[in-house]
Amino acid sequence: MAIRIIGTGSYAPEKILTNADLEKMVETSDEWITTRTGIKQRHIAADGVATSDLAVQAARNAMEMAKITPDQINFISVATVTGDKAFPSTACFVQKKIEANNAVCYDVVAACSGLLYSLEIAVAMLRSYKKYKYALVIGAEKLSSIVDWQDRSTCVLFGDGASAVILERDDSLPDSEDCLVASELGAAGIYSELLYLPAGGSAMPASHETVEQRQHYIKMTGQELFKLAVNGMVGACRTTMKESGVKSEDVTWVVPHQANMRIIGAVAQRLTIPEERVFVNIDKYGNTSAASIGICLDELCRSGKIKRGDYILLTAFGGGLTWGAMLLRW
Ligand code: UT7
Repeated sequence: MAIRIIGTGSYAPEKILTNADLEKMVETSDEWITTRTGIKQRHIAADGVATSDLAVQAARNAMEMAKITPDQINFISVATVTGDKAFPSTACFVQKKIEANNAVCYDVVAACSGLLYSLEIAVAMLRSYKKYKYALVIGAEKLSSIVDWQDRSTCVLFGDGASAVILERDDSLPDSEDCLVASELGAAGIYSELLYLPAGGSAMPASHETVEQRQHYIKMTGQELFKLAVNGMVGACRTTMKESGVKSEDVTWVVPHQANMRIIGAVAQRLTIPEERVFVNIDKYGNTSAASIGICLDELCRSGKIKRGDYILLTAFGGGLTWGAMLLRW
């Protein structure tokens, strides 16, 4: 039995916010944003559009590639930190909108590492239960809804978007055809306050004070995160390569979470993987958290840059803190 990726999809809302637009909103410059992060623009969802709406578009694209219908999907996993509501799960809203009426639904909260966490869980479910054949794994965020548009240290970084992957359990294939070669996930709750949303949960319910104090927006300690991000991603990537015996020169593409061009560069350098094998689209989308890796994967797939048998190394880092790497054989 083998688990295969049979479809990918992505979606970004139409509206684009450029660095020049941001120059008019906060004290910043295209030069600062570009040199410090690599971001030139980000997509922003319209008022009234929810994370599940973005997810649905990505899911439809992925189902089309996979050539499956919504009723064939056995479970939907949505990785997000910007769910439509505190509950029920955003996966349930996606289910309703695409009419995947036979699916089990749940969300995964692992911030920017969300898609990797979600894929690991989905693969384990498909391997464990013969009753599951098709999984719809989504990473989707409307980060613009939790960005403080008065805080220049964070508002220039984030964007909205969604991505989806369809996994299939194929009992006719040998185990050696499995797409997941090795994976390594990690977390360190001791650093939870380096990147978080202070209010709105049970620890600090919404009140007039929390709104006045701008506690419903992303808070981030960027510099400290930067170092931990590089170490976390490099360590996880090395573990997957060591476990599988796959060397850095065998990897066709590294697909890193798109948080900062300088982080991506440092990771590639420490893994001794040349720039041309590191996929980057941060300039177009900014940091879309759980959506970012799947958007990259979909762009790679649709541009014909991946062929069967290629090794693809996904790696991410984010709030939690959480991190991970996943080595795929396409
Ligand atoms: O998604 C996964 C988790 N997130 C990350 O991994 C993010 C990791 N961190 C980073 O990417 C970087 O730390 C940032 C891009 C957030 C910041 O870059 P930095 O090189 O670490 O800048 P900094 O925070 O040290 O700030 C340098 C200066 C400061 O001014 P002073 O104190 O030197 O006068 C900031 O106030 O840049 C200033 N600054 C800005 N200036 C213009 C901060 N934000 C801006 C801005 N425009 N938007």
